[in-house]
Amino acid sequence: YTTINRTIYLKKNAAVAFTKLYNAAKKVGYNIKGVSGYRNYSLQKYLFNSYVSSRGLTAASKCSARPGKSEHQTGLALDVSCSSERYTLNKSFGSTAEGKWLSKNAYKYGFIIRYSKGKESITGYQYEPWHIRYVGVKAAKKIYNSNITLEEYLGYYKHIK
Ligand code: DAL
Ligand code: ZN
Repeated sequence: YTTINRTIYLKKNAAVAFTKLYNAAKKVGYNIKGVSGYRNYSLQKYLFNSYVSSRGLTAASKCSARPGKSEHQTGLALDVSCSSERYTLNKSFGSTAEGKWLSKNAYKYGFIIRYSKGKESITGYQYEPWHIRYVGVKAAKKIYNSNITLEEYLGYYKHIK
């Protein structure tokens, strides 16, 4: 894992790709900061349980993965935000200039917006404009241009549909 933005850890290929994305955004005046990267089992367990206590199991399941099931545990996913959002993770990030730039350009660096609006029934999670997942440039391009989810790209969705 490589350190970027102080405390964010990612697998090296994802870290290298995110650094490129970060620098490209910086060049056009956007500061897209990593907020949460790699998480181990016990941190994910703590987060999931916190959501269960505050929101109940049903709501928690839509915004947080169970321990052992989070992409954050792979080191290939991270959450990003920007200064106008005070670096919090909120749906409104999707409407910021940074969020819009991210959704249009992330694929060029091998990332996808993993939990898209309108795809909740496929992904199982709420819209998360801040959560990006490294899949490599080829897959990201295909997913972006076809406006599909990772589930559909991998062919999982047609089986469960
Ligand atoms: N928020 C995403 C779904 C996670 O917990 O991995
Ligand atoms: Zn996330």
